[in-house]
Amino acid sequence: MNEKTLLSLAYGAAFTGGERAVAFSDLESMTPQFREGDDWLRKNAGREGFGWMDLPRRNVDEVQTLARWLATRESIVQVGIGGSALGNLMLHNALLPPYWNELPKVKRNAPRFFMSDNVDPVDNRAIWELLDPQSTAVIVVSKSGSTAETAANFLFFWEKLRDTLGEAAARERVIVVTDKEKGILRPFVDETGCKSLILPEDVGGRFSVLSCVGLLSAWALGIDCKALLSGAGAMSDLLARNGSILENPAWIMAGLSWLHLRKNRNVNVLMPYSDALERFGEWFAQLWGESTGKDGQGSTPVRALGSIDQHSQLQLYSSGPDDKLYTILTVKQGQKDIALPAAPEKAFEKLSWLYGKSMDELRNHEAFATAVTLAKMSRPVLTLTLPVLDAWRLGGLIQFYEYVTAMTGYLMKVNPFDQPGVEQGKNYAYGLMGRAGYEAQAQEVQTLSGRIGERVVHV
Ligand code: PA5
Repeated sequence: MNEKTLLSLAYGAAFTGGERAVAFSDLESMTPQFREGDDWLRKNAGREGFGWMDLPRRNVDEVQTLARWLATRESIVQVGIGGSALGNLMLHNALLPPYWNELPKVKRNAPRFFMSDNVDPVDNRAIWELLDPQSTAVIVVSKSGSTAETAANFLFFWEKLRDTLGEAAARERVIVVTDKEKGILRPFVDETGCKSLILPEDVGGRFSVLSCVGLLSAWALGIDCKALLSGAGAMSDLLARNGSILENPAWIMAGLSWLHLRKNRNVNVLMPYSDALERFGEWFAQLWGESTGKDGQGSTPVRALGSIDQHSQLQLYSSGPDDKLYTILTVKQGQKDIALPAAPEKAFEKLSWLYGKSMDELRNHEAFATAVTLAKMSRPVLTLTLPVLDAWRLGGLIQFYEYVTAMTGYLMKVNPFDQPGVEQGKNYAYGLMGRAGYEAQAQEVQTLSGRIGERVVHV
């Protein structure tokens, strides 16, 4: 590793697995498929679903200008769900100090941030009660512009703003991020004249974090978005080298994911050993699950967190069914490390092996101990390490995971960029809520609900 290293991937222990082991030669022989997959991704850049590939190079001046205005607010509420929420939470978790909203203003020097994603009346009311409407901005994000949860939550906040401040002042405090024409939010922009950004048509929801969807709030909160994009661009260039598989960690990870899937390891566990990457796991779960779960195939993403899950899941991981591929994600050098102090109490003498060591040292040893425990039991494990967690590396890591996901979809021969199951759920919900045009969906739900309610037990 040197100061230019984006990440490193240790994958020697991915070739364990007893009779169901994957051989290195299996991976190496896939090089032509990776080259074709890479060609497919790059040749289609700009087509629907493929736009994430060149997000690092797109102009973001308009986003930055709006973010400057947002930064002057006391609080930001973002209304959105799935790909219109998880990326923001991931960026903030990784790059802002923890307990952000609780920090005194002088330490934050930027707005507080609230996410309204689930339709939960208690949560939404609680958010509203924490706000001073005068100094609040509401960002509403929806690619389709019609998702029921987002529509419902926005109706709530919009009415509250309007009732408290009047229509003109309320409109001043809203930013809409949506498609340039689809859905009901674009007509809302035209009708009210509120601020808005266009969510690029060629970028899918779960791949949109490096578009205005993720960048707007991140920039307003002081995250260095230029560094994020530059890290993503640097990763994209590295992965385009098209040389040997040995130089391409995304090909290795996608290839191993696919080979292990074929050996019936259809669970993909991502276990970061950093609280700042907990939300990265949530973001990954959507990206992976929605992109690979198609046509009766797929691998189930599991978000674990070290070392908490070492004391909760490692027993299952090491000795339960051999149906998982593991990635341990670590940060080599943490920030603001704590040196463990020596304690004067006699009772603690037996802890002297900890004295003078650091929390990061312990955390990294814990991560390594988990990897070795898995390897000892012949469970396939990868270790992905970031030298430090900064905006440049996070941008690289995001681009890396998006590429791995798309490449795995390509190897599986599924379309990684659609989500018919998600759309089906949305359509049934519209039907159930009586939305015009969804009568057939409502009818279908009625028919299927008979099956669900066929057997019930009341106690
Ligand atoms: O990846 C996807 O397309 C979906 O999971 C969406 O992110 C999610 O359903 C929210 O959709 P929208 O942004 O259209 O409101």
